[in-house]
Amino acid sequence: MTMTSCVNLKIWLLNFVILFSMVSLSHGRLNAQFQVKAVNLGGWLVTEGWMKPSLFDGIPNKDFLDGTGLQFKSVMTGKYLCAESGGGTILVANCTDASGWETFRLWRINEDTFRLRVFNKQFVGLDGINVVAVSNICTYSETFHIVKESDNSSRIRIKASNGYFLQAKTQELVTADVSEVREWEDDDPTIFVMTIAARLQGEFQVTNGYGPTKAPQVMKEHWSTFIVENDFKFIASNGLNAARIPVGWWIASDPNPPWPYVGGSLHALDNAFLWAHTRFTKWLSAWWFKRWFSRMGKNKQKHSPNSSCYRIPNCKVCEEAKLLCS
Ligand SMILES: *[C@@H]1O[C@H](CO)[C@@H](O)[C@H](O)[C@H]1NC(C)=O
Ligand SMILES: *[C@@H]1O[C@H](CO)[C@@H](O)[C@H](O)[C@H]1NC(C)=O
Ligand SMILES: *[C@@H]1O[C@H](CO)[C@@H](O)[C@H](O)[C@H]1NC(C)=O
Repeated sequence: MTMTSCVNLKIWLLNFVILFSMVSLSHGRLNAQFQVKAVNLGGWLVTEGWMKPSLFDGIPNKDFLDGTGLQFKSVMTGKYLCAESGGGTILVANCTDASGWETFRLWRINEDTFRLRVFNKQFVGLDGINVVAVSNICTYSETFHIVKESDNSSRIRIKASNGYFLQAKTQELVTADVSEVREWEDDDPTIFVMTIAARLQGEFQVTNGYGPTKAPQVMKEHWSTFIVENDFKFIASNGLNAARIPVGWWIASDPNPPWPYVGGSLHALDNAFLWAHTRFTKWLSAWWFKRWFSRMGKNKQKHSPNSSCYRIPNCKVCEEAKLLCS
């Protein structure tokens, strides 16, 4: 057994599920005593960071994946930056406890350009020099760079696309109007202490994180090594007769799934069917495939995105997709 299958074996054990202890007669030609013993091959065609953290290692600026929740405490006021009323008006820097209104969700545009979204979903933008969160339309929002102190990455400055840094001028006034910054002193209103309050590590994060050039290579490598034909041999030789493979809704538009997903997962799934076909009960893969296909067909219509603002984290579609794909 290779190293990979050892690791995979652990994953299977973690995921081991007996899907149905008895198959209803209406589903097939098998007798009622037939038992489906299946293994869940998670983390393969739908990435999950906890299953393969190393997949995320090569992402540039990997603290700032899409959907990350960040909190910023002003070193000068000692209070958190927060969206007044949770959004819809100005940003202030007078909040004492970090929770919802103080958490900003990142939209990762590329490795060092982000949009920030507040609790009520508005994007952080500028109104003159004032920092506000009033628009729900991403293209009207501001983009930001987060500049880390070189020897303490939790101390940061936020720079707007106009080149000005944000400052907590007072507890009640946050502006983007500082063009020159100096050292990282504690009385500097442009410096914030950043806390990562939430992380997301899914397929969106990994493909978006690597970006359009690198992601296809990384995913291809992952798909071709994480689960291989030998794994199917191993499953079958251990008395299991089915495999459950979670797939993402975007597989329905393979080989050209919507950004940032990359094509090729359908090919990997095809291989799985091929490997399964010779080893597992044939009716099951055929039955499952039919189900999968009809589900995906429905999904495709529902989820065809036509807007550049179409994003997965925290959206309703995503919740639906999770239900449908898990
Ligand atoms: C980095 O800055 C934070 C906030 O000021 C501080 O709590 C932490 O001790 C610093 N870390 C190091 C390694 O200096
Ligand atoms: C923070 O400042 C805003 C704007 O002046 C004010 O409405 C709010 O009550 C203040 N919040 C706290 C916790 O002091
Ligand atoms: C998608 O396109 C349809 C038809 O052109 C339009 O009605 C709808 O508003 C668009 N959706 C988005 C999110 O832009």
